[in-house]
Amino acid sequence: MRRRRLLFSLLLIAAAGLGTAAAEPPGAAGGGATPAATPLDQVVPAPASVRGGGRAFTLGEGTRIRVPGGSGEAKRIAGYLAGLLRPATGYDLPVTTKGGPDGIVLRLGGRGTGQLGAEGYRLTSGSRAVTISAARPAGLFHGVQTLRQLLPAGVERRSAQRGPWRIAGGAIADSPRYDYRGAMLDVSRHFFTVEQVKRYIDQLAAYKINKLHLHLSDDQGWRIAIDSWPRLATYGGSTQVGGGPGGHYTKDDYREIVRYAADRYLTVVPEIDMPGHTNAALASYAELNCNGQAPPLYTGTNVGFSSLCVPKAVTYDFIDDVIREIAALTPGPYLHIGGDEAHSTSHEDYVAFMDKAQPVVAKYGKTVIGWHQLTGAHPAKGAVAQYWGYDKTGAQEQAQVVDAARNGTRLVLSPADRAYLDMKYDKNTPLGLSWAGYVDAKRSYDWDPGGYLKGAPEASILGVEAPMWTETLSTSAHLEYMAFPRLPGIAELGWSPASTHDWEAYKYRLAAQAPRWEALGINYYRSPEVPWPHRG
Ligand code: ACM
Repeated sequence: MRRRRLLFSLLLIAAAGLGTAAAEPPGAAGGGATPAATPLDQVVPAPASVRGGGRAFTLGEGTRIRVPGGSGEAKRIAGYLAGLLRPATGYDLPVTTKGGPDGIVLRLGGRGTGQLGAEGYRLTSGSRAVTISAARPAGLFHGVQTLRQLLPAGVERRSAQRGPWRIAGGAIADSPRYDYRGAMLDVSRHFFTVEQVKRYIDQLAAYKINKLHLHLSDDQGWRIAIDSWPRLATYGGSTQVGGGPGGHYTKDDYREIVRYAADRYLTVVPEIDMPGHTNAALASYAELNCNGQAPPLYTGTNVGFSSLCVPKAVTYDFIDDVIREIAALTPGPYLHIGGDEAHSTSHEDYVAFMDKAQPVVAKYGKTVIGWHQLTGAHPAKGAVAQYWGYDKTGAQEQAQVVDAARNGTRLVLSPADRAYLDMKYDKNTPLGLSWAGYVDAKRSYDWDPGGYLKGAPEASILGVEAPMWTETLSTSAHLEYMAFPRLPGIAELGWSPASTHDWEAYKYRLAAQAPRWEALGINYYRSPEVPWPHRG
């Protein structure tokens, strides 16, 4: 079965390579030959179940997007889909709540959708209609992302392209392996504007990522307005690595990011890193320092030199205010309190601090997430630890995480030598860091979250996350160069059943994404490990 899939993939890529080699839009190459529709089993992340066959659907001038009896949310998703497809196709694609046997049909609820879960969907394609059914709106949205990938890559362009716009016949039934499929963006080392964050959100949504973890504070910058401690943002956010002007999100900016992410079924997970990584806060308020003196702002890239003052009462007024204000802005269930690299906090102080900080998160109705060092303290009941160890992480440290997992702490896996998107691909990568080694596309993809931490119960694995630290990254083009092609691989580890895991097959599916990235203007890395089609 696997061999057949591989052979099929090879043939497909050969065809796709021919179809996209020319600069013309799909369909224009090869003397008028039409490109084959994308087979249903070429989607990234791989769907749980695929059955190809039957007649293809052709999107045409008269195609409607139907939301039979449509609810507000299903109609909004239909509008989003129409917005994606109109520029390249040039078609009107009206959205209608009238039922009918033809067109693109988005159906919420209905027979058999119950077993698809909160994020699953079913897609069936035939000569008259493509139908996406789901129990919940998130499922419809993920189904829409699959449908996008089944159309020729040219559909992603923002100007009119030549069709035909075919979708292969068949059926997909799909739902995720893990509930938590995250990406982290460090907006502290370099600040990223709301527009830049939205661009990244769109890229994440295309691969069914459902959590956006924002690293909102660090030594180099505090990036979110806090009314009760205004200098955090106005002063603590006034610079960044290298000494540029930095920036911060107003509360309205943050709400806008939360809303934009929620419209794409991503939950924002805000992080305020503590008790270390706090120089920007300590520089903003002298009273937070044990010696009562504010250090200067910091624009370098060292770690581990700052700590909140654990014995001082004002420290807990501070974290109460910050957590209360951020919790009030955040509809999602999680609040991340960092806890990594507290090298300037004694172990005793670290444990005492976490014993006080975690109940504050609970008091404001949120679930604690911390970097896995939290397991060296007393993780609160229900807490989540984010594992960022790598092949040189000590056995004792790993054992502590496994012990916590056995005792009910859930884990999000972000192994630095697999999932960190800021690691260089190889020695020639002009951006990024290499302290966890070089991480090319295969290494990033080729591991199993289920068996990664030996001894951690399978049920303790909440999911995976791909962090992007930005000491060396300051533009969207930089983020994209590091995220693509690795991010889709982490997304697939989070979404697809373990039975689909196969680098030799995956690398062809991944390669076939490149024309989409080119159509979207995504600046990706042409890893030599991936059999890319000729460039358009
Ligand atoms: C980390 O990379 N310090 C979580």
